[in-house]
Amino acid sequence: MATWSGIVFLLVVGLLAVDAADPWWKTASFYQIYPRSFKDTNGDGVGDLNGVTEKLEYLKEIGITATWLSPFLKSPMADFGYDIADFKEVDPLFGTMEDFENMVARAKELNVKIILDFVPNHSSDECDWFIRSANGEEKYKDYYIWHPGFVDEDGVRRPPTNWVSVFRGSAWEWNENRQEYYLHQFHKKQPDFNFRNPVVREEMNDVLRFWLGKGVDGFRVDAIYHAFEVEADEDGNYPDEPRNDWTDDPDEYGYTHKIYTVDQPETPHLVYEWRQILEQFQADNGGDERILMVETWSPIEIVMDYYGNSTADGAQIPFNFQLISNLYYDSDAYHYEYLINNWLTLMPEGKSANWVIGNHDKNRVGSRFGADRVDLFNILLLTLPGCSITYNGEELGMLDGYVSWEDTVDPQACNGYEANYMDNSRDPARTPMHWTDDKYAGFTNGSTTWLPVALDYAQRNVKKERGVSLSHLNVYKRLQELRKEPTISGGAGEIKAVSSYVLAVKRSLSGNYVYISLFNIFDSIENVNLSEVFSGLPATFQYTLITDKSIKQVGDVVSAKSVTLMPHESIVLRSTTTV
Ligand code: GLC
Repeated sequence: MATWSGIVFLLVVGLLAVDAADPWWKTASFYQIYPRSFKDTNGDGVGDLNGVTEKLEYLKEIGITATWLSPFLKSPMADFGYDIADFKEVDPLFGTMEDFENMVARAKELNVKIILDFVPNHSSDECDWFIRSANGEEKYKDYYIWHPGFVDEDGVRRPPTNWVSVFRGSAWEWNENRQEYYLHQFHKKQPDFNFRNPVVREEMNDVLRFWLGKGVDGFRVDAIYHAFEVEADEDGNYPDEPRNDWTDDPDEYGYTHKIYTVDQPETPHLVYEWRQILEQFQADNGGDERILMVETWSPIEIVMDYYGNSTADGAQIPFNFQLISNLYYDSDAYHYEYLINNWLTLMPEGKSANWVIGNHDKNRVGSRFGADRVDLFNILLLTLPGCSITYNGEELGMLDGYVSWEDTVDPQACNGYEANYMDNSRDPARTPMHWTDDKYAGFTNGSTTWLPVALDYAQRNVKKERGVSLSHLNVYKRLQELRKEPTISGGAGEIKAVSSYVLAVKRSLSGNYVYISLFNIFDSIENVNLSEVFSGLPATFQYTLITDKSIKQVGDVVSAKSVTLMPHESIVLRSTTTV
């Protein structure tokens, strides 16, 4: 018969076990959906929310546990939804609020978390707040950053500073109505909010609460490092940014050195405030932890501030852009090793890593690094410690689609010149998802698509890759199976370059098998002695994941002292004994 002390002991152990359980996001497999290009259900050539709902089972099939969706809120689409006119309404192009609710309900049934793209830095110039601000209405007057500029000795009015927009040209636009310039760090149809105004901060807090109430599991926070600019001086003026000497073109974003327009010391504190809103919501409403994923292309030391500090929690996931930003086609294994370990070393204690290699702003992985390295990056992202973040289509190895200058719609390219539009355009990574080899790749039943479908869709699509045993898609699915292994989900990680050519990731957990992922980055045959690379390894391993570059089979046994890798081969080995 149970004694009271026995029951109390069991309760305490039980509670500790629950407390110790990792929150869902720590080892989640995230998937970024760019809804415009994912699946169109109404035949207008633009993807929609019902399309996402229809494909949630596909997410399940490929082992995804959470998805972040690029914006689908009311927008004139100058930056394809990153210019929001109403922060609490779905744009009719994507569907209705009811469609959104259905999507969330279905996602909950399938246990896929839904993360909304929260765009706090700017609104659309068609947002009611901006229209009222331009009209000088008292409440809204300081919602945005306004300045009359200066009249020079020739009587010509000039913008307040030399600040440049990310999409080219002055970051200041004259507004006839208000007779002042407003700041826009992106498109002129994306005026920047004034985050020094507490009323603006409260509006944004309210947006978060609204969507939390609608059942989202968190937010991807857009372009956060632009949120604050340097404070104006006592005359209300802003300083010029110092010049960079590598361009003379004042319209080029790189014309100035960004010391006043990004990475201001106040910015991470905004995120700390938002984290509290999420926590309060959870305290009031229960449910799983709501998360923040923060987009900041800042120096790594600054990125780390977004995790929080000893007095405040920040984002659970400040996007780790080390690989996406710093790896190149020719990077050797030491460079991979450095970038990975640098993140793990600089990450504050008790925090969790995340890995990103593709998104809607960068060229496709297979186009940047070569189609032969698609599996390499999927294996790397999914076997490193922490959560993985996959951009839709990367599981298939989709390449950049060809988009002619005439078909180009991305403002980042359209604001420049035909001669170099390909260097700036983000359209090639945004072409419609390849579902089948039917017309328009099964993306739409209509007769047009908002961007052309990539020409190779018949070779690379979900339907075809399902049927090819070592397709990128099937390698990806196998990886998701491996991620369920305790060693891969929660084990320690050791990342080492074996040579310039080969990278190795060891995962281990006491009482379990050791896993080693090996990546042959270049096109030579390589032989490695793993026992020299990692200490205390079991003597033999088994192939547990191979790719179409492999000549071995799953289950083949190999000595740790001699593993041969074919050109561009990446594999996962599992020790034959536990440790
Ligand atoms: C982020 C988005 C990008 C967008 C920009 C402005 O960087 O990822 O697509 O154009 O912010 O909102």
